[in-house]
Amino acid sequence: MAIPTSPKERNLNATAAVAAAVVPAAGRGERLGPGAPKALRELGGVPLLVHAVRALARSRAVGLVVVAAPPEGVPEVGALLDSHGLDGKDIRVVAGGATRQESVRLGLAAIPAEVEIVLVHDAARPLVPVDVVDAVVAAVRSGADAVVPAVPLADTVKRVVPQAGGRPEPVVETPERATLRAVQTPQGFRRAVLCEVHEKALAEEASAGQAEGALPPVTDDAGLVERFGGQVVVVPGHEEAFKVTRPLDLVLAEAVLARRRASDGF
Ligand code: CTP
Ligand code: MG
Repeated sequence: MAIPTSPKERNLNATAAVAAAVVPAAGRGERLGPGAPKALRELGGVPLLVHAVRALARSRAVGLVVVAAPPEGVPEVGALLDSHGLDGKDIRVVAGGATRQESVRLGLAAIPAEVEIVLVHDAARPLVPVDVVDAVVAAVRSGADAVVPAVPLADTVKRVVPQAGGRPEPVVETPERATLRAVQTPQGFRRAVLCEVHEKALAEEASAGQAEGALPPVTDDAGLVERFGGQVVVVPGHEEAFKVTRPLDLVLAEAVLARRRASDGF
């Protein structure tokens, strides 16, 4: 992979592969039910992870993909990706961690220092269209520190006071739906910004421990940037970039894939 290192060089070769992607894939997939780790569950006969890596590899902007695999499955995941021949891209596999955040941090550590733009993409989003990947990279190239693809919400959202045991939950507020977005991946970052917030979060965790009153967990990387005062911007996502979380999502993903295969056939 040739990574342009100076702005001048980048201008001369605007389509060069300058972004690297981290794919957190070390989750168990508890909400999907019993079975293999979620990233290895199949969609159209191909593991979700392979779909997700292919989706990134389709972008000319992406030259390197680092997969954070279940720690006990690193050789298996490496062999799996090799067997699915991913057209000339540099694919590396590292051991993931106990949380998504840790998996991303371990993946980031495997990216060469000269890479300036980093994407983070869930293995559980197998069907993200390449246009979304390209739009995120383009927004980072245009100067944004942190970029997330997102879509408007169909449902109205209410903030509640969670209650145990299925008891009715008091509603606190109803944010205006038009101002809300459901956030997807790949999220794109200036590498230095993403590394800095992950380091700060790690230091914060080390000092807070599991103490009560510790900050709530952050569920995406852009959330870490926000926590430490950075600016995050949203670009249009796509309904097909949804995350496979529950069994019904797999049914939907199979339908989307079948529709794509049917339309490719004509
Ligand atoms: N992930 C990870 N390392 C972890 C936990 C999650 O790399 N320790 C990854 C998952 O593999 C997934 C992405 O983060 O690609 C988004 O997480 P999620 O959808 O929550 O996946 P799981 O954690 O596997 O699912 P669940 O929460 O239902 O167990
Ligand atoms: Mg999870």
